[in-house]
Amino acid sequence: MDTSSLDTPVPIVDWAVMKANIERLQGLCDKAGISNRPHIKTHKSVEIAKMQLAAGADGITCQTIGEAEVMADAGIKDILISYNILGARKSERLAALAQRTNLTVSADNRQVIETIGDAMETANSSLGVLIECETGNKRCGVGSSDDAVELAKHVDAKQNLEFRGLLIYPPRGDVEPTKQFLADAKTKFGKVGLECRVVSTGGTPNLPFIGQCGETEYRSGTSVYNDRMMIGFNVATPEDCALHVYSTVVSRPAPDRLILDAGSKALTSDLGGFETFGVLPDYPEARIVKLYEEHGIVDVSYCEKVPEIGEVVRVLPNHVCPVSNLFDEILCLEENGKLRPLRIDARGKTA
Ligand SMILES: Cc1ncc(COP(=O)(O)O)c(C=O)c1O
Repeated sequence: MDTSSLDTPVPIVDWAVMKANIERLQGLCDKAGISNRPHIKTHKSVEIAKMQLAAGADGITCQTIGEAEVMADAGIKDILISYNILGARKSERLAALAQRTNLTVSADNRQVIETIGDAMETANSSLGVLIECETGNKRCGVGSSDDAVELAKHVDAKQNLEFRGLLIYPPRGDVEPTKQFLADAKTKFGKVGLECRVVSTGGTPNLPFIGQCGETEYRSGTSVYNDRMMIGFNVATPEDCALHVYSTVVSRPAPDRLILDAGSKALTSDLGGFETFGVLPDYPEARIVKLYEEHGIVDVSYCEKVPEIGEVVRVLPNHVCPVSNLFDEILCLEENGKLRPLRIDARGKTA
């Protein structure tokens, strides 16, 4: 690829690597006998969501109403929003969205259920609800199966809401508490006669354990591109990483320091548990030690070979999902070696 005419910083997605990642996730879900519901928060692209559906996914997951609106406008018919939607205005948007797509949301408290239930009734819409449960991630979610049953009953009592099941984002590397929670919940739901048709779990770091919790569907986001964190978690190799931010060396102010035009507005400030802000795969000893908004400060004191001023280098981000949210357009490196622009349709749809 000729990088000399690139307008950097710019993310470039190796299309063949991404396609292989999509196929791999689908293969894992098929092997486990469960539905694939990829999380589009990683790529935020209608085209890529449709490729995931064409590969066999049964629907998609979004994190915000804005993302879901973009995907529904593009004709995607089965969407889960894995987030508590709270407030009158958002509930109105949800009700409008539910009229044009098969929509499910997660909820972990009565206030959410009341507000969305009322909004659905007013708009004469209907909505599926998964009760979000917490099994160690210490984020949203009820912490006991008794609370899950109580909330499910509350959903069931609302005319325009349909209780569909449970949603969990299990802690990385430890699925045992999730397994136990779900086994316990199954018994309790059986006793009260409520059917838990969907058990939705997810997370790329837990893909090695796919199917082991008794889930019916899996939400993986990051696996579509992969990143430095996923390599660190041993669920991806450098060859599985589809997206790199291409950046130009704009200065070499000192022998041990060079400056990239990729700063926090291109790479994000997400350290993802590392000490540096991404890696340069072609200069592995170079260390991105500090970011300003448009400056990436690189310590090259350990490098045998140092990129020159004007050279375009690849940066593998620590965490790829927020990078997609920083660019209106990225480039796809197609199998014929050509670059084509791709609009990031749901970029900035944070609400
Ligand atoms: C609720 C939920 N499900 C699924 C995912 C996808 O996780 P990953 O990107 O690790 O695959 C996320 C990511 O933050 C999430 O918040």
